[in-house]
Amino acid sequence: MKDIIVVGGGGFAKEVIWLADDCNRKVRGVLDDNVATHGLELQGTKVLGKIDSWKKYASDCEFIIAIGNPRVRKLVTDKMKLLGKPKYTSLIHPSVHLSNTVKISEGAIICAGAILTTDIELGEHCILNLNVTVGHECDIKDFVTIAPMAAISGNVTLNTLVEVGTGAVIRQGLTLETGSMLGMGGVLTKNIPERFIFAGNPAKKLKEIVE
Ligand SMILES: CC(C)(COP(=O)(O)OP(=O)(O)OC[C@H]1O[C@@H](n2cnc3c(N)ncnc32)[C@H](O)[C@@H]1OP(=O)(O)O)[C@@H](O)C(=O)NCCC(=O)NCCS
Repeated sequence: MKDIIVVGGGGFAKEVIWLADDCNRKVRGVLDDNVATHGLELQGTKVLGKIDSWKKYASDCEFIIAIGNPRVRKLVTDKMKLLGKPKYTSLIHPSVHLSNTVKISEGAIICAGAILTTDIELGEHCILNLNVTVGHECDIKDFVTIAPMAAISGNVTLNTLVEVGTGAVIRQGLTLETGSMLGMGGVLTKNIPERFIFAGNPAKKLKEIVE
């Protein structure tokens, strides 16, 4: 197995380095655009340089984007794509429980304790954090982030760039449209339109995401 380069130097990257260790994968180093961190260690792993230096490691390493924010994660992959085609790996903790009808695309990070049942599709660069559960026939598109302890019932669609907060709960059959978010602890009983944040129990519109 090739060594891994972790892209992103924040707190989640530390957890991903730990996850890689649990998956018996060697992390060669970290890439981050904050030059103040270059040469320092993150969870025992050296920060090697800026993200656009990734090509130096491309021949004998695979990459994982360890950035929780879906939009930033997508920006980073877009930026890396300008220089070539990095080979991404996925990291799935050995404790993750999933059936043989779960399809996982490249760049996935699935942390300890997650459970994915049957006929589930996971797009590219998705993050399923600690103890997340995902029910039957869920369709999870690219760049989705699901925070710890969230429970996604069956037949739910999480469109591209959706974020689900810690401990949130989603009723079966619902759709979270592109770029929308359910806040931590939210209990979702209705679909969320594109680029809106819902929160609360029952979850209601909190604000629109304006960029
Ligand atoms: C929903 C969320 C995005 C809103 O963040 P924000 O835009 O910075 O909003 P603010 O903190 O300014 O809060 C605005 C109001 O919404 C309330 N609010 C914020 N988050 C809420 C939530 N999850 N549920 C209910 N109410 C919430 C605040 O209390 C505040 O109420 P007020 O106006 O009566 O004082 C954020 O609180 C959240 O839930 N983030 C997810 C955190 C998470 O799961 N992280 C995972 C790390 S691994």
